[in-house]
Amino acid sequence: MSRKTLPLTEQLYQYLLSNSLRESAVLQHLRQETMGLRGGEMQISPEQGQFMALLLKLMQAQKVLEIGTFTGYSSLVMAEALPQYGKVITCDVDAQSTAIAKQFWQQGGVEHKIESRIGPAVETLDELIEEGYTGHFDFAFIDADKRNYIEYYEKAYRLVRKNGLIAIDNVLWDGKVIDENNTDKATVAIREFNKHVKADMRVDLSLIPIGDGLTLAYKR
Ligand SMILES: C[S@@+](CC[C@H](N)C(=O)[O-])C[C@H]1O[C@@H](n2cnc3c(N)ncnc32)[C@H](O)[C@@H]1O
Repeated sequence: MSRKTLPLTEQLYQYLLSNSLRESAVLQHLRQETMGLRGGEMQISPEQGQFMALLLKLMQAQKVLEIGTFTGYSSLVMAEALPQYGKVITCDVDAQSTAIAKQFWQQGGVEHKIESRIGPAVETLDELIEEGYTGHFDFAFIDADKRNYIEYYEKAYRLVRKNGLIAIDNVLWDGKVIDENNTDKATVAIREFNKHVKADMRVDLSLIPIGDGLTLAYKR
């Protein structure tokens, strides 16, 4: 029975949610609002959010880096899991979606735990390195444009402490990674990223088939 990961039918997925999901009212509201927006499907799934929150608690994480804020679901779920003095630094190029995120962080009473930076993530990560954040973060979540994934990963590796964790989203890319006829730039980038991290012996690694596929890389 445990030969391989069980494929999830819609019914089984609903069972999983109804028997494990504990989403706060504000997270639920944000998820529903975002689903009605263009690009709404970009937000992480609620069970993935809960899984990441559990990881943060297991690690007793206090400092989180996020690349790809969008309307703020993942930063909100992570901020909820941090202690009062915990901090998420999250970045995005899009000030409009970040403005929505800020409303919900405020509603959720976690705005004091979240710092948002607007601009291309490569530049923001370089700024953080210049500002002395090397080795600072317990956890980094990469969920922005796929073409820069390797660069984000390499910079996140510098910014995360030893024994910290880097979580990278969309690594199964809606199954397109196995379609050899699919050579669009994002798909190729995800395939290259997956090879890159598999070969990276500086980390321990697991690819979790949750949401759109989440790789966890533990910095040795
Ligand atoms: C998949 S969404 C993030 C979803 C978010 N983590 C959530 O769960 O709601 C990706 C985000 O990356 C942002 N993005 C795309 N290219 C970027 C870049 N070069 N620098 C920073 N952010 C970028 C987009 O504006 C978008 O909001």
